[in-house]
Amino acid sequence: MSMASIQGKNLLGLQDLSREEIEMILHVAKKMKTVVNSDNKKLSLLKGKSVVNMFWEPSTRTRGSFEMAAKYLGADVINFTPRGSSIQKGESFRDTLLTVTAMGVDAIVMRQKQEGSPWFAATCVSPVIINAGDGAHAHPTQGLLDLFTIQEVKGHVDGLKVVIVGDIDHGRVARSNIYGLQKMGAQVHLVGPRTLLQPELASMGVTIHYNLEEAIQDADVVNVLRIQKERQGIGFFPSAGEYNALFGINQKRLALAKKDVLVLHPGPMNRGIEIDTDTCYSACSSIQEQVKNGVSVRMAVLYLTIMGGDDVDITR
Ligand code: CP
Repeated sequence: MSMASIQGKNLLGLQDLSREEIEMILHVAKKMKTVVNSDNKKLSLLKGKSVVNMFWEPSTRTRGSFEMAAKYLGADVINFTPRGSSIQKGESFRDTLLTVTAMGVDAIVMRQKQEGSPWFAATCVSPVIINAGDGAHAHPTQGLLDLFTIQEVKGHVDGLKVVIVGDIDHGRVARSNIYGLQKMGAQVHLVGPRTLLQPELASMGVTIHYNLEEAIQDADVVNVLRIQKERQGIGFFPSAGEYNALFGINQKRLALAKKDVLVLHPGPMNRGIEIDTDTCYSACSSIQEQVKNGVSVRMAVLYLTIMGGDDVDITR
């Protein structure tokens, strides 16, 4: 495998990565997964390097898996949250970035409410910036781990019908999935209520549906998005029960998809609203494996952006 290095490249959105770069990350993530699955997960590939996790919004999976990924690779990690930091004394976002950079960090993993803030951060400081989710805009490592999980289960992404269901407009996962899936050759279908799925998204080359039964026909993959209650200023649907009745994923609806349909959800789940309890941990679901794959994919992203190269020697 001979590909361009992404050393020093910020990971802001999947629109900035080529198909070859995505394939390289997935290839390295596959090797990292053998480490995650082994008894001794500690490598020294990032020994002497340091990573700061800066999370202005809550997170369980992304923050935890970035921290684990950095530690498994031998890096030092600082976790930063606004509460308890000098942001509470009025220090600006830019000055906060300059301050952690002055401490000598090699990569800044950041989750911010303001859309575009990782792009702004990349203009302010020199460490690699990795977007761990900016508002309703982008979540590139979630897009990569979803691609990794699809490739692992299906063997390929090319030509698959992938249906993304739910709160598309407020979900940063949707756009990252669209960019990543299209670069890897999937046919992307979006479905949700009209109040949560703007028709203008058709300009991204996806097929828009407002009827779940129609969208899910012969789907290879159904990616269920969380209802983002915290980003919805007003009610976008009358009740959780009505949403579930029209757009909830359950076994009856999945019977319309291909027999070997794969169900994904980025988490956290609103069980009984966008997905039923008997479906989320059923045989067709890889939701728990997605969480595990998040560690491997983030190991690959940290290693390749900090150290470069197009492959990894996991014996180090
Ligand atoms: N999928 C995801 O980003 O989950 P967290 O908010 O728990 O990180």
